[in-house]
Amino acid sequence: MEVIVLPGPDDVARVAADVVADVVRRRPDAVLGVATGSSPVGVYAELARRVTAGDLDLSGVTAFALDEYVGLPDGHPESYAAVVARDVTGPLRLDPARVHVPDGRAADLEAAAEAYERAIADAGGIDVQLLGIGANGHVGFNEPTSSFGSRTRIKTLTARTRADNARFFASPEEVPLHCLTQGLGTILEARRLLLVAQGEAKADAVAAAVEGPLTSMCPGSALQLHPRATVVVDEAAAAGLTLLGHYREVYAAKPAWQRP
Ligand code: GLP
Repeated sequence: MEVIVLPGPDDVARVAADVVADVVRRRPDAVLGVATGSSPVGVYAELARRVTAGDLDLSGVTAFALDEYVGLPDGHPESYAAVVARDVTGPLRLDPARVHVPDGRAADLEAAAEAYERAIADAGGIDVQLLGIGANGHVGFNEPTSSFGSRTRIKTLTARTRADNARFFASPEEVPLHCLTQGLGTILEARRLLLVAQGEAKADAVAAAVEGPLTSMCPGSALQLHPRATVVVDEAAAAGLTLLGHYREVYAAKPAWQRP
């Protein structure tokens, strides 16, 4: 795993955007995995800035969201379909027809989950999957004890995650109890993983995911199984890492041909 520790959130956004931009430069019809939540917001803003400046063209890209709440009314502003449309599809000038979000309003949620897996496979798999991490180590909505082999499915959110996400809703009770999320097995099939984290609230989760044991109690530790996972964190989110000095040395000595 590559661990890149940078001074602040702006640096995290810039370096993560470099990775995405590099993937798309090599393959203009790349398949991106997009995450919601606060963590990747700066990355999207940086990508949008490059698109607006004419330095990056994402119009040929296909995107798959990681997850969606179950049961929010159609058009709810905090449904991930709405969030992705607002924060990603519009600003990055993606083709809306190529942007996919699990259908959390489907009458048959199991069929919707299977259809989502098929759609990812039909698109040729995900080239780069952007990830955040929850304070309890969740990725996507794969809560602790999620199987490392799991596929897109229905999950029940933990009280902790619902409390963390209550800030987006009028009241904590409004946060749905269920979701559809790509599984850890689905995520691990992406050709490249790019996890971003900022702030001290993520320090324990980052340390557990990067340096802790491989355990379903920290779903983010599944990244240790991936052949090409990059974790980009700011100083505050890196505070719990034991090998901090080593990560800095590795990044400082990274050969130019290996960047970004
Ligand atoms: C959310 C999302 C995840 C996200 C995580 C962290 O609920 N489902 O994809 O990575 O929890 O959220 P944030 O980035 O807002 O801290």
